[in-house]
Amino acid sequence: MGTSQDIFDGEGGSFTLWDMPPLSEAEVNSYLQFAQRMVFEAGGILREGYYRHKEIAHKSGRELVTSADLVSEKFIRSQIETTYPDHKILSEEFGGLQKIAVENLWVVDPLDGTNNFAHGFPFFCVSVAFVHRGHLVLGVVYDPLREEIFWATVYSEAYLNGEKIKVSQIDNISGALLATGFPYDLSPETENNLDHFVNFSYAAQGIRRAGSAALDLAYVAAGRLDGFWELKLRPWDMAAGALIVKKAGGVVTDFAGNPWTLSSDRIVAANPQIHPQMLEIIRGR
Ligand code: IPD
Ligand code: CA
Ligand code: CA
Repeated sequence: MGTSQDIFDGEGGSFTLWDMPPLSEAEVNSYLQFAQRMVFEAGGILREGYYRHKEIAHKSGRELVTSADLVSEKFIRSQIETTYPDHKILSEEFGGLQKIAVENLWVVDPLDGTNNFAHGFPFFCVSVAFVHRGHLVLGVVYDPLREEIFWATVYSEAYLNGEKIKVSQIDNISGALLATGFPYDLSPETENNLDHFVNFSYAAQGIRRAGSAALDLAYVAAGRLDGFWELKLRPWDMAAGALIVKKAGGVVTDFAGNPWTLSSDRIVAANPQIHPQMLEIIRGR
């Protein structure tokens, strides 16, 4: 069950994130085209910034922010504000959470993989999801260096550029390539994922920590990875990728096996065979 935060209590009753929205396919496709155009342009901003001198500041501890995060987000916000002035935006740099339960909500990570970007490690993306009356309507994840756009809507299957994508068919975790990430605060007294990392390292064929949760999810959808888990993430890291994994035939839950919601801060996303095996390892069995 989701928490009250992710249920839209509006006219017509309560709905959960994964139900069909009261929008036609044509309406959804028009939002999709808008989102795709926007991430292509924002990705262009990141690509250009990646090859130039970068202005880098510390947000806190290990957490960085670059000028590209800010320029990309300002661009995306201005596009949404101009095209849909009554829509709300939940975004990392300037749009901290107000309420999830609003009529129309764009969930935006203008640069997922900031640490990679700052160091010149070529693995980062723009991630945009759209939520209407509490329903996750579409997700778009764009990797501007590889020019790969991963996307799905409630009405579609999942796609990478023009091709349909599916989760992998690996059925035993001993043969699985998994991915994860770590919170910026890795102090030993906090929950830091190192325990799960050790347990998964014994169980799986390999683990990758590439540094962009949204792209990790997109890679699960494309069958490049068999599963992904992480904790202490924010909605903008996961929302688009979660829908893309689901529509590629994957399973997306929190660590307890409940359906993933916008208020979940942890995620397990994998093909249907690997997913229960991942939950068992997380539960310590
Ligand atoms: C981070 C990335 C990383 C994950 C961190 C996130 P950011 O997002 O997704 O892979 O491990 O937890 O905060 O800060 O690069 O947008
Ligand atoms: Ca992020
Ligand atoms: Ca970010």
